[in-house]
Amino acid sequence: MRVNIKNKFRKLENAGFNMWNQSPQGSATISDPQGQAEFYPQDLTTTDKSIAPFVPSPMDVVKMMLDLADLQPGELLFDLGCGDGRIVLSAVKDYGSMAMGVDLNARFVEEARKKAEKLGLMDRAQFVDGNMFDVDLRSADVVTMYLLRKANEQVKPKLESELKIGARVITHDFPIPSWKCETRVDLGGESGRHTVYLYVWRGLDCTGRLLS
Ligand SMILES: C[S@@+](CC[C@H](N)C(=O)[O-])C[C@H]1O[C@@H](n2cnc3c(N)ncnc32)[C@H](O)[C@@H]1O
Repeated sequence: MRVNIKNKFRKLENAGFNMWNQSPQGSATISDPQGQAEFYPQDLTTTDKSIAPFVPSPMDVVKMMLDLADLQPGELLFDLGCGDGRIVLSAVKDYGSMAMGVDLNARFVEEARKKAEKLGLMDRAQFVDGNMFDVDLRSADVVTMYLLRKANEQVKPKLESELKIGARVITHDFPIPSWKCETRVDLGGESGRHTVYLYVWRGLDCTGRLLS
């Protein structure tokens, strides 16, 4: 069974998850357009804790996210909701950074760890099987997120209270409500249309307003 996961993701956003929460759990796997991930319809459901379903970023989008972040060797990247770990692995392998991915789905975390081990990247790539709200972001140079708009809204207070000045936040497809992005890139290719947003955290003024 092949489905256009990009459209599914958009529908999910519009439907506030109800469509998938109510759909019966199938047994067929779904492949992403570049055939790099296999997952089950139940991975597209959410729970109280899960604020976004699993939809992998296509590899050309991953590259754009990391290029736009201007990720440097030795910097520390966090991917909030890392799925199969592709952003973390590319950050470490192709950009020489250190990176940590966190995901609620233990199966994805296990898969990501195995890939890191196979690639000999375990010394710089770390994967946590847990909730992104429990991860301390104070040491992050770069944070990447491919979540939903509503999820970005939920994560925003955590970013605002923990990020150091100058940290970059890159989001795929969904902006961070009320934050002003530095750069927005629209991509169109084999994997469909995607948008990547770059934010640089500059802090809040004494009235709690965003500094830009
Ligand atoms: C759209 S996928 C993005 C995967 C990966 N970052 C990428 O771009 O390819 C979102 C991921 O967030 C995870 N997730 C959702 N809520 C979470 C939470 N509260 N803590 C950690 N992971 C979460 C889901 O399990 C899913 O794998």
